[in-house]
Amino acid sequence: MTSEYKPPPLPSPFNNTLPPPTLLAQGAEAHLYKTTSLNPSIPAALKIRPSKPYRHPILDKKLTRSRIIQEARCLAKLVREGVRVPAVLAMDWEGQGGESGWGGAWLMMEWIEGPVVRVVLEKWEAWMRAQEKIGSLDAGQIEAQQGRVKDLFRRIGGTIASLHKAGVVHGDLTTSNLMLRVGEGSESVPYEDTAGPGSMEGEIVIIDFGLAGQSIQDEDRAVDLYVLERAIGSTHPLSEPFFEELLVGYKHGNKAAVSTLRRLEDVRMRGRKRSMLG
Ligand SMILES: Nc1ncnc2c1ncn2[C@@H]1O[C@H](COP(=O)(O)OP(=O)(O)OP(=O)(O)O)[C@@H](O)[C@H]1O
Ligand SMILES: [Mg+2]
Repeated sequence: MTSEYKPPPLPSPFNNTLPPPTLLAQGAEAHLYKTTSLNPSIPAALKIRPSKPYRHPILDKKLTRSRIIQEARCLAKLVREGVRVPAVLAMDWEGQGGESGWGGAWLMMEWIEGPVVRVVLEKWEAWMRAQEKIGSLDAGQIEAQQGRVKDLFRRIGGTIASLHKAGVVHGDLTTSNLMLRVGEGSESVPYEDTAGPGSMEGEIVIIDFGLAGQSIQDEDRAVDLYVLERAIGSTHPLSEPFFEELLVGYKHGNKAAVSTLRRLEDVRMRGRKRSMLG
């Protein structure tokens, strides 16, 4: 199915760079390419928001533009505040380039070398299931493995706390929007193809600020945490039991966390009621 998909033509200048940018991901709203920055040895991520042919052209331009500008603003602010997010390298919100009156917008940012947390947890869970089948792990080894996930979760919680402390809520926290920045030189073997349960070493970097906004409200922060809790519950069943560790990391050295976590209890309660009704 994906082989039949043809992404829209790239805007200038990316339609004549060598090597051409490679398409990594295509969401409903954005296309993500790997390309290079001014210097061909510096990799960069290129996020393109194509225009939507079914929308009125003026409205479309306005929406596409405001989304990309707001994402870039968030990233720039967070870099200044020392939160781990990709730095902005360049952008265009006018969408002049390209044939057929291309009206989209793009954002070029620092390339983060490493897998998304979704891939890290999927790899670990697959490995754990395989070991369980052959009974290769004793109780102590299982506990040690679970300890690695707990540690990863604590670090994720700490990074989300730094985001919230900077006055930003993400709006779409999932394990696909959290990356694990692995050390230099690990590009040779794709993470998925490494042997064993997979490394969990590295810094957590938050990406995808398309739905982010400024807020210091406990409610908004609690919803951020709840959305991530639900995402982990539905995609990573073996890791879900350790979600509390993420909250431990969130609380660590973060005074405002107490009231946010109290609010999380309310948000969870509302979520349960809603799922009972629907
Ligand atoms: N800076 C980056 N470095 C490396 N890979 C990235 C980077 N940004 C994004 N990616 C990869 O591309 C994927 C899609 O990016 P992103 O989450 O920003 O787009 P999206 O989910 O399609 O966007 P939106 O939800 O705003 O429409 C990510 O899950 C990640 O695998
Ligand atoms: Mg995303």
